[in-house]
Amino acid sequence: MHNVIINGKKISAQDGCPLKEILEKNGFNFPCGGTGKCGRCRITSPDLAPTALDERFLSPRLLSEGVRLACDKVVTSSLTVSCELSAPAKPITPIKECSLAVSIGDEEIDVGIVGEELCETVTLKNPLFLPTLAEDYEKNPSSATNALRAAIGKTGVELFEKYGAAKASVIALAAKEVYLKILAGQKLSETFDYECSSGRETFGLPTESLYILPGKGDFIGGEIFAESVNLKERSLLIDCEKTATFLHIDEKDNLAAFFWNCDYSDVAAECFRAAVKFFAEDKPAPCVYLCGRYADKVEDYLSELPFPVIQLEKSLSSVVSALLSFRQRSKLSRECNATTVVRLYDNETFQKFLTE
Ligand code: FES
Repeated sequence: MHNVIINGKKISAQDGCPLKEILEKNGFNFPCGGTGKCGRCRITSPDLAPTALDERFLSPRLLSEGVRLACDKVVTSSLTVSCELSAPAKPITPIKECSLAVSIGDEEIDVGIVGEELCETVTLKNPLFLPTLAEDYEKNPSSATNALRAAIGKTGVELFEKYGAAKASVIALAAKEVYLKILAGQKLSETFDYECSSGRETFGLPTESLYILPGKGDFIGGEIFAESVNLKERSLLIDCEKTATFLHIDEKDNLAAFFWNCDYSDVAAECFRAAVKFFAEDKPAPCVYLCGRYADKVEDYLSELPFPVIQLEKSLSSVVSALLSFRQRSKLSRECNATTVVRLYDNETFQKFLTE
């Protein structure tokens, strides 16, 4: 038997016991289920030797400070661990009137149930297979449409049941146009009309009223984003998800850029540094705000740059709930018009920073 001391609490563990088992029982959260994909199950334990997984996700500085990933470790001796444990689950308060906020990404879909505020977000796998999406959809449109509707509908209904609601009064959708067309069962070659889509029932989702967030690509409104995460003007927000979104908020205009299907590899680290330098060029040194699932990784990428970097608790899915408010909607449309999307890879300044 060995002693595992977690935040000062002593637990006896058998030799060979996975550390994941012990930590999970004590309220530690494994964001990717302990599959070694996210690099976010961070603990501090200088008693554990770094593994290949640690070296893949953690910088030499963090490794020397004793930071490790918990999901591949096994107890072979007594050890001390410090980590963040989640608070005990809050009791569920039933909601009579609710809305759903749905954000469809290329790989994952976030479905949030909103009462007075966002109560819970469930992340599910996007059932559509991106590389052959357009081709498959042309061949068999109804199967893709049904798969997408069923995934969102089923999760929505599960959330209604959990919170004692009957249906959503509004579903707010944020998605690339291709997913909206598929949801509506429309041809990909047709033009999608955002205005007409409000309130129409052809999406087959459990609601009477749909609201489509006006967007360019995956971008959904600079000032709103800034407001809901309390950003100051002239700061740079990076939403660190599979699509990494950069948003520079200025007094009048915003500048946005994306890295699509970002794999957060060493190459991505170089690109992130070059992108931050690009946004800082000719502008006052920005404060960089990070949100999203991979914010920890991006924080490491930027540690050597001379900018303050701040991680935000909020993520895109909680911002979506803010967008359900009527006051924000017209402002959101104006915002989209005040935003220029930069194509970073075609940009000479970005390329200069990337190769220097
Ligand atoms: S839980 Fe994702 S890497 Fe450990």
